[in-house]
Amino acid sequence: MNITITKTDQLKPHPKDTALGFGTVFTDHMFNMDYDPKNGWHNPRIEPYQPIIMAPSTMVLHYGQAIFEGLKAFRTEDNQIQLFRPQENFKRLNLSARTMCIPEFDEELALEGLKKLIRLEKDWVPKTLGTSLYIRPTIVAMDPFLGVRASYTYRFFIILSPVGAYYPEGFNPVKIWVTKDHVRAVRGGVGFVKTAGNYAASLFAGEEAHKNGYTQVLWLDGVELKYIEEVGSMNIFFVINNELITPALNGSILSGITRDSVISMAKKQNMKVTERKISIDELFDAHAEGKLQEAFGSGTAAVISPVGIIKYNDRVINIGEGNVGPIAKRFFKDLTDIQYGKVEAPKGWIEKITD
Ligand code: COI
Repeated sequence: MNITITKTDQLKPHPKDTALGFGTVFTDHMFNMDYDPKNGWHNPRIEPYQPIIMAPSTMVLHYGQAIFEGLKAFRTEDNQIQLFRPQENFKRLNLSARTMCIPEFDEELALEGLKKLIRLEKDWVPKTLGTSLYIRPTIVAMDPFLGVRASYTYRFFIILSPVGAYYPEGFNPVKIWVTKDHVRAVRGGVGFVKTAGNYAASLFAGEEAHKNGYTQVLWLDGVELKYIEEVGSMNIFFVINNELITPALNGSILSGITRDSVISMAKKQNMKVTERKISIDELFDAHAEGKLQEAFGSGTAAVISPVGIIKYNDRVINIGEGNVGPIAKRFFKDLTDIQYGKVEAPKGWIEKITD
């Protein structure tokens, strides 16, 4: 399928790298593609970044049939632009599509469209270490209809946003809040895919955490409210007795690509890595016994985010006395060295965007 390009004649000013936060600035163009039952996915095109006009009855606005991804493009020291494991994101977007009754798309075409878009927007990829071009592929239900069913028509779009650190803390320890009053996902639900509703479901507890001075919520399982799941914007890792432990993928945890990368790097470094159930009580006991060395999150937006304080009921633990632990530091460096092209990447992890 031919991907057409329509350029804008109104280019926006670029912010300075030092002014970049997360998700507030968008580039000049976007990728669009439509689906209807007669034509399938069709009309892949690059167009000026613009509003999507939809009727108030459009299904995504009512029933949340929406899925998305987050990945990044990096500028290397020799001024090349490269993507980190983009095939994995499009594969997961299709998993989300199947789960949410959205027709699957051609992953190669989507990657080709993304590369074409980034080539056009290459000057938007920031230069400073710690900055990148965040990429948000999204699919939304477009039928103007109020009955509850899967939509027949969809819009696939990709927008780009130059970003700095996701958390205002940067690469400093964040405070996380464990809630027993709310759950993010349940057994048999859609917690393992990136669909809008999972994030909507996290907002109430997130607000509660913020009001109490905490950055994020650490979710427990939706059945027993006992086992640690994820943070919502990232997966979670603990170092206990020199062993790297992360909750096993159980159907309600997102299968993070950064999570997978950390596990793979740790195994290569001969670190003991275990994916298993870990209860919040086990975590607090490990801390009490002096065995909990580090906690950190992993995610595309968050990269590696050290966790300094965890609050659960009236118990608060402080990990690392406000300092970033050596293992979180090492994974941050190993991962960003690969992403910024400073070291050779494992096979298939880097997709270069050539002119
Ligand atoms: C990401 O890490 O890219 C995410 O999608 C998490 C969040 C910003 C929604």
